[in-house]
Amino acid sequence: MQIDLIAGARPNFMKIAPIIEAIEKASKEAKDISYRLVHTGQHYDKKMSGNFFDELGIPEPDINLEAGSGTQAEQTATIMTRYEKVLMENRPDLVMVVGDVTSTMACSIAAKKLNNIKVAHVEGGIRSGDLTMPEEINRMVTDAITDYFFTTSHTANDNLRRAGVREDHIFFVGNTMIDTLLKNKPRFKRPKVWEDLQLKEGKYIVMTLHRPANVDEEEKLRYLLQEIIDNSHGLPLVFPVHPRTAKVLEHLGITDSRLHTIEPLGYLEFNYLVAHSKAVITDSGGITEEATVLGIPCMTLRDNTERPETVDIGTNELVGTDPKNIKPAMDKLFAGAWKKGAVPELWDGHTAERIVEGLLGIGGGMGMLDSRF
Ligand code: UD1
Repeated sequence: MQIDLIAGARPNFMKIAPIIEAIEKASKEAKDISYRLVHTGQHYDKKMSGNFFDELGIPEPDINLEAGSGTQAEQTATIMTRYEKVLMENRPDLVMVVGDVTSTMACSIAAKKLNNIKVAHVEGGIRSGDLTMPEEINRMVTDAITDYFFTTSHTANDNLRRAGVREDHIFFVGNTMIDTLLKNKPRFKRPKVWEDLQLKEGKYIVMTLHRPANVDEEEKLRYLLQEIIDNSHGLPLVFPVHPRTAKVLEHLGITDSRLHTIEPLGYLEFNYLVAHSKAVITDSGGITEEATVLGIPCMTLRDNTERPETVDIGTNELVGTDPKNIKPAMDKLFAGAWKKGAVPELWDGHTAERIVEGLLGIGGGMGMLDSRF
């Protein structure tokens, strides 16, 4: 079975690394499976893309669509147009997409519309219910045309069943992002900022913000940051800044001796910082999963999550986007009253192996039934 594996933006790279490794292992064992790695180029900076390939040992992409930045529609259109050409030249048996970024949706559509090339979605079925987030649209559209769903949670399975997906097209496998986390934990690397700021174990907070709802309005971002600074009990706040946020921060000109903005970090350095921190404040989805597995308190500055298990089982709490909610959450943290959390089912480091097992089964029976009938 020939698979196209799609990656486009930063949170995709840690999800595909273990899948590639598991496919290569199966292929060496003479199983009928091979892949072609397609990088859409949605993220193109070294610090948003290239470093992750080096650090996680991901091979050079076979194809780079070099889509680059643009509006949602521009990015989608560029990726679709360029990927369609690739598919027309060489048609795989199946296209595997991961996560919820624009590349995920664009490549699924291109494949499915090209004479029904089968689509598999890793991290399928999750929903926030919040259609103001482009990622939610990407999830809904991708899942509406996906054939095989590889899921991270029981909630995802239930969402898919409710949408009428056949039981034998839902593969509850766990979380490939956690495969990467567990495998690389011994390699986490102390970043330079550790020495520069003389950070100490459990005595600083890590922060990431990039969602439009938090960063696109300057005054809202100013208020949020000020509340975080004022309630952090003097601990250093280490803030690796996403390019989108950097543009807004430049205008704000906030300077405070407790707030330390730095360039985006590589995977091993970022997770070193998280693993040794007192807490994480974020609006990312993936980081709530990593913090859960690392057992680090996590405050999510969003009103909803597509990953409810990080709240119900893990260390995550939805603090919301109202800056007034920061103080009570920080008070709870500093009172030592944050929940301990546990690790969700099957987030055990072996998800990619289960995915490949599933793929081999699908390959064996590739008569191709639609996922809903
Ligand atoms: C995308 C994903 C989001 C993910 C995030 C992680 C979608 C809809 N969103 O959002 O789910 O959490 O990636 O980073 O796919 N830029 C650079 N260098 C790069 C890439 C982007 O400077 O390598 C700039 C772009 O020019 C743009 C901004 O960052 O101004 C946003 O990039 P974009 O890919 O549109 O979406 P993200 O906000 O990164």
